[in-house]
Amino acid sequence: MKLKEQFLFNKEICFFNHGSYGACPKEIFSAYQEKQRFLEFQPIEFFQKHLLPGLEKSRKRIGRFIGADKDDVIMVKNATYAANMIIRSLNLKAGDEILITNLEYGACLNAWDFWRQEKGFEIKQVDLEIPLPETDEIVKLFAEKITSNTKAIFFSHITSATAQLLPMEQICQLAKEKNVLSIVDGAHAIGQLKLSLEDMYCDFYFGNLHKWLYAPKGCAVLYARRSKQHLIKPLITGWGWGETRELLTGNDFLDFNQFHGTDDLSSYLVVDDCIDFYEKYEVEKRKIKCNKLVKYFIEEVEKITGLPSLYGKFDDQLMLGEAQLPDWIDVQKFKLDLYDKYQIEIPVIKWEDKNLIRISVQIYNTKEEVDYLINALKELLIK
Ligand SMILES: Cc1ncc(COP(=O)(O)O)c(C=O)c1O
Repeated sequence: MKLKEQFLFNKEICFFNHGSYGACPKEIFSAYQEKQRFLEFQPIEFFQKHLLPGLEKSRKRIGRFIGADKDDVIMVKNATYAANMIIRSLNLKAGDEILITNLEYGACLNAWDFWRQEKGFEIKQVDLEIPLPETDEIVKLFAEKITSNTKAIFFSHITSATAQLLPMEQICQLAKEKNVLSIVDGAHAIGQLKLSLEDMYCDFYFGNLHKWLYAPKGCAVLYARRSKQHLIKPLITGWGWGETRELLTGNDFLDFNQFHGTDDLSSYLVVDDCIDFYEKYEVEKRKIKCNKLVKYFIEEVEKITGLPSLYGKFDDQLMLGEAQLPDWIDVQKFKLDLYDKYQIEIPVIKWEDKNLIRISVQIYNTKEEVDYLINALKELLIK
């Protein structure tokens, strides 16, 4: 059986956009639906007996996967939610500064901007050129912008619109040396990158499981270093907080943040199924081929367009990559042409003054599909 058949997405589409919302395999989706059915079958049992042990099981498994203790991680809906939890919690005020890069994701930028307007702190930006400079140079650019007022650094581990891998450990190490909090947006990292968060210096890290770890939508994780967990305030205050505290685990970080009233949290309970799938289909091994196909695609597009690469060295772990398209195309029309004429789903984006195409290659994509895409680009670009 072709690997593609294990997934639910429409097979009539040539799907190269795993990066936006992921894709859920049939067996994980069935496990998810089983949890949902059990919830409706015995709601009291589900909420009062199964939910907390289920969450603990999931925290344990994802913790092991990303190199963190089960009590330092909580399941959350998505990266945007986690970003808001952290940003809103921090005790920032007028005169304080936070540092971000020019490569951040729009929803997270909005969260920063909203709280900037509420609290009056300042957002400073580190401008990174593409192709990215060497690691030492990137760290230097951050270091230059840190002042005695800087309270936190926020950046994406893998950037969204530009598919760049930032040197997370080194930036977080700098933050630690300067006594500044580090907050990492790892929305794209879990499932692509090997992580060992406990050893990677970050204070806060969040990532989606519904992107590269095959979870159903609405499944993400937030890691907080134990010494910094007291800084996180509940975004929603519920039974886990206050004098009448219920649903106790005895740990403030967990009690305050992991249950916000009646909701379908079934997606949080299939972490075992996601990691079992990852192991059963030897995704670690298959990723090598995916990475090669991304590199191959980028090189072929560069041959077609004659435009320079967006990378110095393309990292061996990435399954997400980007190439430039000519400035004469209309990105929206180009994307629609790929979809309508070739049934190819792939993002074509305007970023700063560049037109970009972002490919995701997952274990279900084949070399034939990549060649089909390259051929479509030739037909659309070579007049
Ligand atoms: C870097 C980055 N951060 C945050 C997000 C937001 O993820 P979500 O929509 O799951 O909250 C994305 C989504 O693509 C992303 O690429």
